[in-house]
Amino acid sequence: MERIKTGIKGLDSLLDGGIPKNNLVLLSGQTGAGKTIFGLQYLVKGAVKYKEKGVFISFEQSREDVILQTKEFGWDVEELEKKKMLKILIFKPTKIRLSSIMAQFEKTIDEFKPNRLVFDSISTYGVYAETISFFETIMDLGLKKENINFSMTPESVKRKMIMEIMSKIKSYGLTALVISELPEVTNYLSRDTISEFMADGVILLKHVPIGESLNRSIEVRKMRYTDMGEGSRSYNITNKGIVIE
Ligand SMILES: Nc1ncnc2c1ncn2[C@@H]1O[C@H](COP(=O)(O)OP(=O)(O)OP(=O)(O)O)[C@@H](O)[C@H]1O
Ligand SMILES: [Mg+2]
Repeated sequence: MERIKTGIKGLDSLLDGGIPKNNLVLLSGQTGAGKTIFGLQYLVKGAVKYKEKGVFISFEQSREDVILQTKEFGWDVEELEKKKMLKILIFKPTKIRLSSIMAQFEKTIDEFKPNRLVFDSISTYGVYAETISFFETIMDLGLKKENINFSMTPESVKRKMIMEIMSKIKSYGLTALVISELPEVTNYLSRDTISEFMADGVILLKHVPIGESLNRSIEVRKMRYTDMGEGSRSYNITNKGIVIE
């Protein structure tokens, strides 16, 4: 099994050498867990240490935010973009239709041919799919109001769209981290409750406040083709990014 080294200190040993090539891994955690930093670090290390091209797609932040966030850790993403090792794709779905976002996304993958992809996040994408795309779907189908199938709810459209985008990402032949938000209290591993079943692996970032500090732990909950016997480890966010102990 060929494995893709994340380059994140401590993670590759936890993963039996890295993420199995071409797998789609769900990276799930509550707000502030460090998911975005983790994703950017995976791409920056991939480009710098392993000469692998990466695409970062965000529905959450502006380009300026991403650049500022990475500077904090000494990562020069603009330089990596100039060297054609990285591409940052920012979407403000309220301004464009989901179908045109998808077209742009696919074009980038086709032309840039990245080895790594980070999708930030499937939860935000799901919310847009649920709200905007429900009406788009109705319009695209050219349905008259009286002919709308009432079994088609915004929730069912969202689930269908999430399944479609996940299968599409899997078909690209790259190693992907799909970020998912986790509600404070849940029995599932994602907000949408389906992406964890479609992913080849699930990495969970947990942070529990203890007194005035945060107790952060990382857990590999599922990873195909991988001996993940070790359970959880603690991690910290430092000025070098995520460090796993
Ligand atoms: N230089 C730093 N040193 C230590 N911790 C930091 C540093 N910079 C950011 N952090 C921590 O990282 C957290 C933000 O990380 P990140 O944006 O990756 O979270 P996230 O899981 O993507 O959150 P969200 O779900 O809201 O997008 C902050 O809450 C802070 O605790
Ligand atoms: Mg984030």
